[in-house]
Amino acid sequence: MNATPARQLRPDAGADTHTISLNINGKQHELAVEPWTTLLDLLREHLDMTGTKKGCDHGQCGACTVLVNGTRINSCLSLAVMQDGAEVTTIEGLANGDDLHPMQAAFVEQDAFQCGYCTPGQICSAIGMIAEGKAQTRDEIREQMSGNLCRCGAYNNILAAIEQAIPACKGGLRE
Ligand code: FES
Ligand code: FES
Repeated sequence: MNATPARQLRPDAGADTHTISLNINGKQHELAVEPWTTLLDLLREHLDMTGTKKGCDHGQCGACTVLVNGTRINSCLSLAVMQDGAEVTTIEGLANGDDLHPMQAAFVEQDAFQCGYCTPGQICSAIGMIAEGKAQTRDEIREQMSGNLCRCGAYNNILAAIEQAIPACKGGLRE
């Protein structure tokens, strides 16, 4: 992995910055961040990785879900400095070139979105949920995905997509 030199996020940031190291989608970054910068704002506003969405910015919609060391979190609720040394996976890091991650492919096949704004968070959350080993039944999936809201109401298709993708994501599903 190639490390990038420490990057000052704002030229006027002054002495209030902390240098952190993050591996984002397999690429190492050294970043000088202000202590109040959230992981979400770091991704979207400083690294131009806008696949991760900002909905409520208060931990209530799940649009900002990313994987940190394989665990799903709301990136709007996490300060970037708290994640020093972490491995972050965003929606941009799931596909391998044109080869979609099985969860992405299932969302396409099941037509599991309308406007698509919630979709990156839904997909990251679903992958994290499967890794947690909690998605054993439909009701469990609904419960475990309840932090990811869809204003378009595509829940039935989202559920179908997750069920489709579970075997490819090395999970299990009992009815
Ligand atoms: S933007 Fe983070 S939970 Fe809504
Ligand atoms: S597809 Fe529009 S918010 Fe979910």
